[in-house]
Amino acid sequence: MICYFSGCGNSRYLAETIAAGLHDTLVFIPEAARENRYEFTLAEGERLGFVFPIYAWAPPKLVLDFLKQLQLASKPDYLYFACTCGDECGKTEEIFRKALQEKGWELSACFSTKMPETYIGMRGFNLDSEEKAKQKIEAAGTKMTRNIPRLFNKEHFSEMDLGKGAWLKSYVINGSFNKFATDDRKYRFTDKCISCGKCVEVCPLQNVTLEDGHPKWNGHCTMCMACYHHCPVNAIQYGKATEGKGQYYFGRQKKLEDRRK
Ligand SMILES: Cc1cc2nc3c(=O)[nH]c(=O)nc-3n(C[C@H](O)[C@H](O)[C@H](O)COP(=O)(O)O)c2cc1C
Ligand code: SF4
Ligand code: SF4
Repeated sequence: MICYFSGCGNSRYLAETIAAGLHDTLVFIPEAARENRYEFTLAEGERLGFVFPIYAWAPPKLVLDFLKQLQLASKPDYLYFACTCGDECGKTEEIFRKALQEKGWELSACFSTKMPETYIGMRGFNLDSEEKAKQKIEAAGTKMTRNIPRLFNKEHFSEMDLGKGAWLKSYVINGSFNKFATDDRKYRFTDKCISCGKCVEVCPLQNVTLEDGHPKWNGHCTMCMACYHHCPVNAIQYGKATEGKGQYYFGRQKKLEDRRK
C-alpha cells in the first residue's frame, strides 16, 4: 500500500510509477482523511510506502497528521518513503523516523527526487526554466528505475538531498512557514477569471468553492498551489508574490505542446 499526497502532480507521478513497479495500490491521503479512513490491513509481507512533496524542508503537515492517525492490524515489516523536492529536503528523514518511532514502527528506506519547483508564494521563489524542469523529470525517471527494484527487494537504504542549514530550516523556519505562510486569505482572482471551476476541481483539500462564478478560499489550505497553477487563464494570484511568475503542473508542458499540434 502506498499512501501519497500531491498538489501539482510531481509526487503523484512518483507514486504511480512506484505503484506500477511494485504492483501496489494507492491511497490518496486527503481523500482517506476526509472519509475518516485510517484503519488498514496489510497482506503478509506487504510493503508500506509514503510518497509526498517536501514543504518547507519537511513532510507536509497533513502527511504527518495522517501518519499519526493511521492504524494497521500488524506492524509493517518494510516501510519506506519517497519524496519530491525542488532542491533540498532538510531533516525530513529524521522527522519522519521520529514520527514512526512514536508508533513503534521503523523506517527501512527513503529517497528524495528533485522535481520541478511549484512554490512561488514569496518573493525570491521562482519556477524552474522549462529546460531545468525537463532535466529534473528525466533524472527522476533514472532515479526511480534504480530505486524501485531496491524497494521491491526490500533493501535498507537512504538517499536524500539534505541541503545546507538543514536543522534551522526544518525545525525553525518550517514552524514559521506552517504558521504564517499557509494563509489562503492572500489568494485572489483577477478579472481574467472565466468561471470554469478548475480551481475547485484540483484542490486536494476541497478548500475552494465558487461563489457567483468566482473562487472563494475557505481557510483550510496546505499551500500546494494547485489552484494557482491549474487555472487555464492564470487568473489566480497570491498577494503580489506570484505576479508574472508563470505556471507549472506535472504534464502541463506536454498538454500545451499537444494543443499546438
Ligand atoms: C508550500 C511548498 C513548500 C515547498 N518547500 C520546499 C522545500 O522546502 N524544499 C524544496 O526543495 N522544495 C520545496 N517545494 C517544492 C516541492 O517540494 C516540489 O516542487 C514538489 O515536487 C511538488 O510536488 P507536487 O507536484 O506533488 O505537489 C515546496 C513546494 C510548496 C508548494
Ligand atoms: S480556474 Fe481560474 S478561470 Fe477557472 S474559476 Fe478558477 S480562477 Fe476562474
Ligand atoms: S486552496 Fe489552492 S493552495 Fe490551498 S490547498 Fe487548495 S489548491 Fe492547494
